[in-house]
Parts: sequence; C-alpha cells; structure tokens
Amino acid sequence: ISLKPYNSFGIDVKARYFAEIFNETDLKMLFKTTEVVNRNILIIGGGSNVLFTKNFNGLIVKISIKGIKSRTENHHVKVTAGGGEVWGDFVNYCVGHNFSGVENLSLIPGTVGASPIQNIGAYGVELKDVFESCQAFEIKTGEIRTFNYADCNFGYRESIFKGTLKGQFIITSVTFNLKIQAEINTSYGAIETELANRGISNPNIADVSAAVSHIRVSKLPDPSTIGNAGSFFKNPIIDKAEFDKVISKHPDVVNYPTGDGRVKLAAGWLIEQCGWKGKTVGKTGTWKNQALVLVNHGGATGTEVLDFSAQIIDSVKSTFGVTLEREVNIL
Ligand code: EPU
Repeated sequence: ISLKPYNSFGIDVKARYFAEIFNETDLKMLFKTTEVVNRNILIIGGGSNVLFTKNFNGLIVKISIKGIKSRTENHHVKVTAGGGEVWGDFVNYCVGHNFSGVENLSLIPGTVGASPIQNIGAYGVELKDVFESCQAFEIKTGEIRTFNYADCNFGYRESIFKGTLKGQFIITSVTFNLKIQAEINTSYGAIETELANRGISNPNIADVSAAVSHIRVSKLPDPSTIGNAGSFFKNPIIDKAEFDKVISKHPDVVNYPTGDGRVKLAAGWLIEQCGWKGKTVGKTGTWKNQALVLVNHGGATGTEVLDFSAQIIDSVKSTFGVTLEREVNIL
C-alpha cells in the first residue's frame, strides 16, 4: 500500500505489509508467529518524524490504540492515554479539564505513544517533565512491560527507545503526572510576547495553549498542506572549547548554555546565516519562516529531501565548523 497518507512529509513510497492496531489483543495476535516477529518492522504513530527514501520492504504497524482516563491524587492528576491518541487531542483534553503541564506542548504533531521516544519538547517544556510511566509491548516476547521515568534515560530529543532498545518495544500507553493547581511556564520569551500582545497578564493554561498554538502556526508549515516533519535537525550541543571558536568568529551566534558547561546552538539560525532560509531547490527546500524545517513542495522524493539536507549539513560545517545531526528518522 502507498504510505503517502501515513507520513507527514507526504512522500509517496510503498510498504510490503501494513497493519493497524487498535488494542493490545491485536498486538499479541499480530506478533504470535516468529515469521512476523522476524520481519523488518517499522512502528508508526502519526508518521510525523520520518523521511522515507525508498519503498519499505517489511511490515509497517500503525498504532491506533485510543482511550484517555485520569485519576486524582492530592494536588496531582495521573492521566493515562492510549499510544494511538493524537498528541494534540490529548493536550486539548488536558487543557479542557484544567490539568496543567502539557499546554506548552500544544499542536505538536504525532501521537502519545511516540512522545517519549524522542522526548518531544517545545516552548520551555519537555515530555520528560510530565512523564510518569509508560506501558510497552516487547515484540520478541509478547510481554507488556512498564517503564518508569528512570528507566527511560531521557535527554534532549533522546530516550532509551531511540537508543539501546530501538525497535524492540511498542508503546501502548503513557501515564502523565499533571497538576490540578496550574503552574504556568512562560519562560520562553515568545510566549510572554504573544500573551502581552493579547493583553493577558495573568494567563491560565488555555491562554498559554492558545499563545503557543498561534506561535506554531505562524512559524511552522501545516503538514496537511505542505509536507514536513517539523525540525529536520537537532539543535547541536557543543563543548565550551568548540563554542569559543564559533563565537570568536560569529559574535552574534544564538546560543543557550545547557548548564553542564556545554552550549546548545540554534540550528535554524546557523542554517539561515548560510543563506538557506526559504530557499527552494527542485521540489524541496526550507520553510520561509523557519529554516530548520525542510518541506516537500509537492511530489518531492525522500532522496531529494535527504540530498538537500546533506547540502545544508556541508554548508553549516564549512561556515561554522559545526556538524548538524538529523532529528528525523531516515528510512
Ligand atoms: N532562528 C533563526 N532563523 C530560523 C529559525 C530560528 O534565526 O530560520 C533563531 C530564532 O530567532 C531563535 C532561535 O533560532 O533565536 C530558536 O528558534 P525557535 O524558537 O523557532 O526554536 P528552534 O530552536 O528552532 C526548537 C525545537 C522545536 C520547538 C521550538 C520551540 C528542536 C530541534 N526544535 O526549535 O521543535 O517547537 O524549539 O520550543 O529542538 C521539532 O522538534 O520538530 C520542533 C518543531
């Protein structure tokens, strides 16, 4: 079947086998035989962090396990959502119920089950800040295992599910630790500015969610009209010695100290400085309002996008001496 509807880049490739899973029983059934377990397997949620460069000669498993439930514990609420819940719907549910903690993560594409894998983050909050635990199906054994916070080795756009356990588990549900008493986080400058523009000085979580959504819509292309997978690269984290070299030549480099002596650079800024912002090359290019986002202007192949990203990596390397790493999974 064509994977075009199943990847936000809108790349038209085919998969040999495809299964959509609605509950844990389906999962167990699917992986009952070693023949299936041993296939080349790719798990997808929203397909919003992948670039297909060729047909997939294996089994794609789309996780559509739904359901949200919550239980209150003192000042906290534990909310458990099925891995196939659309992330944005989950955030809206929390904002609607006045459960605080994920409002800064409004409008991120993808699913709940994918959220811990790369520890999604935006506007001053990361998934790990609200993560309690998750349940995951082990493909090889058919067992369901619980992963607590400490088991997940979360880092910037990293977790154990992307690292040593890559491809071994399917996250069936995630439990979040949210607050009943709202804790507003407007540390990210753009949110404060947006709230000020709206004349809001004492925001509630719905205000923060609306402000974040507005900022995202103004900066990021809507995948339903222009194929993309959000930030294509990670913001590079470099050590102090390397940073000193960069800043001596480029005093205005946008940077954020990470607190452990290293420094994170804004990849979008580096790419823009190299002249790539808003550039179209064939059917691909970077987004006009955010150079970190690569887009499919229609009919691009995955290889075209990948080759273009390699040009950007070379260009940033030769201008700044910094190597960009792709954030999107290349297949
Ligand atoms: N910048 C430029 N030119 C650009 C883009 C950015 O100069 O074309 C500068 C901005 O002016 C700003 C800095 O770079 O000073 C950071 O830009 P922005 O606030 O847009 O965030 P980002 O670092 O580019 C990261 C995440 C986004 C997340 C935003 C907001 C990564 C790889 N990306 O982008 O996450 O929404 O912060 O918190 O960490 C994603 O992962 O797919 C994603 C969209």
